[in-house]
Amino acid sequence: MDRFYVTTPIYYVNAEPHIGHAYTTIVADVMNRFQKLMGRKTFFLTGTDEHGDKIVQAAEDAGVDPKSYADRISAMFRQTWPQLNVSNDHFIRTTDPEHMKTVQYILQKVHDSGDIYFSTYKGLYCVGCERFYTEKELVEGKCPDHEKEPVEREEANYFFRMSKYQDWLLEHIQSNEGFIRPERYRNEVLSFLKEPLEDLCISRPKERLSWGIPLPFDDRYVTYVWFDALINYVSAIGYPDGPLFHEFWPVAQHTIAKDILKPHGIYWPTMARAAGFPPFQHLNVHGYWRTEGGKMSKSHGTVVRPLDLAPLYGVDAFRYFLLREMVFGLDANFSEEALVQRLNSDLANDLGNLFSRTTGMTDRYFQGKIPPFGSEPDELDRSLETQMEATLDQWRTEMPRLAFHKTLMAVWECINAANKYVDHAAPWNLAKDPGQLPKLQTVLRTLLEINKVVAVLISPFMPDTSEKMLQRLGIEKGALDLRLEEDGKWGTLKAGMPVHKGEPLFPRIQREEPKGGKPPKGAGKPGSSRDAAPKPAPAEKDESISFDLFKQVDLRAGIVKQAEKVPKSDRLLRLIVDIGEERQVVAGIAQTHSPEELVGRQVIVVANLQRAKIMGVESHGMVLAVKDGDTLKLVTTESPVSPGLKVT
Ligand code: MSP
Repeated sequence: MDRFYVTTPIYYVNAEPHIGHAYTTIVADVMNRFQKLMGRKTFFLTGTDEHGDKIVQAAEDAGVDPKSYADRISAMFRQTWPQLNVSNDHFIRTTDPEHMKTVQYILQKVHDSGDIYFSTYKGLYCVGCERFYTEKELVEGKCPDHEKEPVEREEANYFFRMSKYQDWLLEHIQSNEGFIRPERYRNEVLSFLKEPLEDLCISRPKERLSWGIPLPFDDRYVTYVWFDALINYVSAIGYPDGPLFHEFWPVAQHTIAKDILKPHGIYWPTMARAAGFPPFQHLNVHGYWRTEGGKMSKSHGTVVRPLDLAPLYGVDAFRYFLLREMVFGLDANFSEEALVQRLNSDLANDLGNLFSRTTGMTDRYFQGKIPPFGSEPDELDRSLETQMEATLDQWRTEMPRLAFHKTLMAVWECINAANKYVDHAAPWNLAKDPGQLPKLQTVLRTLLEINKVVAVLISPFMPDTSEKMLQRLGIEKGALDLRLEEDGKWGTLKAGMPVHKGEPLFPRIQREEPKGGKPPKGAGKPGSSRDAAPKPAPAEKDESISFDLFKQVDLRAGIVKQAEKVPKSDRLLRLIVDIGEERQVVAGIAQTHSPEELVGRQVIVVANLQRAKIMGVESHGMVLAVKDGDTLKLVTTESPVSPGLKVT
């Protein structure tokens, strides 16, 4: 198939976007970007669900009318996605006139064919879920989702003859293995279908709820919100006659969490069948993100908002974490500490380190120009290429099966193998011997090639990082324009083209336990003051270092220009230090030095330390001090010297 259509649920406009919404939307984005990379024509839809009791209630609570309320929250969702690098083609709202027309068209069609009828229903109704419950579905007499007792309600309403399609649906699921996936959710729907399916109430009397789409055949009623919402997946692509509908509906994939399995696995395919079009191709169902072991809840203050985190840690790190941490289909726990660990270990240590070693050595040994393969690659060089090929195969098969974490693990195995290869091949030794130049060229070229393929493979997950890496390797292409066939090939870099070293891809994050009180919103939960994920250092007997290694540390004299406390920290000061240029440095000296006494002081700074964020504040360098018992004494010079002079 050369086309691909992916959707997210359309989110209710009664709550702001949180990490659960962000996960589904980023998953859909990763799928969309992957398919584009494979050369397919794609369409990606998201949007908001704006009718029904829930929205009326939320609007009432906010003291505004439902439309203004929906406009406001819908805009929040719409504005969130570009900030997370989500590349949706369309954003649908159920209040869009085109959508409302399509809902009425389908209602009329199904009504005309005799599959919608009028009847009285008496039952137990949960306002939160906006639906009637059977006694059996309740848990200790309460709605399992809202944990509230439903109210008894009798109403004359319209019903969709869903029961008529039960046998067809059962057969369809049984004969289409990936129709609902992973299997646990397919089985869950099959077990719902063991019981006789009831018809679905698809209307609400206007006197009770007027915020909805009027039924075309009875204007005393509006449409039940699920019957309205599910239709978005076809109204957005121009059902029944639009070219997009013909092109994309046969390859439609919906991505949802397990909470809305029943409407998608049962209502929607039977609705489509009754309206005369085939059901979607795949329903992809994932688990739930939980915080602190429980459900995210507003009242417990455990709602995690993506726009609190992404700017703090970087959009790509946030996206990577979500996709690497959750096994698609299972629940996962969210913690900011785990995010920082992944960032420091997988991104800064593994990927960031590989890229900066590779570009740094190309800079150093080849004046920043891509070398040719100078010598015939030996077994070790070739083993990396072979591993990369196997990873590519795995990537091609696992990505469409939603095994994102597995795919990322395989890519990281390549990254780690490449880091080991550097240690093994020891280019710094080869560089000492001019006779080894051809070998040195091959080693660096092998490394550059692996970095390029890695950059292409991570592009669906981390589009900005991918672009940045490729750009520094001389490939000027937007992540969405990459094509695996051309851009993912081994050996195609051009010898002689410039490579740019640049800043580290991912500054390490250091977190400090703020003493007393909660951290500021978005600044994270208390973590440890050390780097979150130190790699175990290899056991070394002789701990002395070479003079060459010592010389790599750029120590400079500096003068403190400004000093202030880092908010919420007892230990940290933010300093601006003149070291020939102005540098912002975070120093853990607040307990022994006041900001005022520091201004004008001469200090010694490690100038070439990787940038890091400490309690959300960027630090580029380190001020040297001697720990004497409980106090810290700043290292300084014998008498004043100009800022920027090197310590030798
Ligand atoms: N409006 C309906 C969907 C209609 S689709 C035709 C709805 N909206 S919702 O705002 O409640 O969004 C539910 C969806 O948000 C879930 O299916 C999932 O995609 C996402 N998530 C909400 N909370 C989540 C978690 N805690 N974890 C993972 N995803 C979650 O239902």
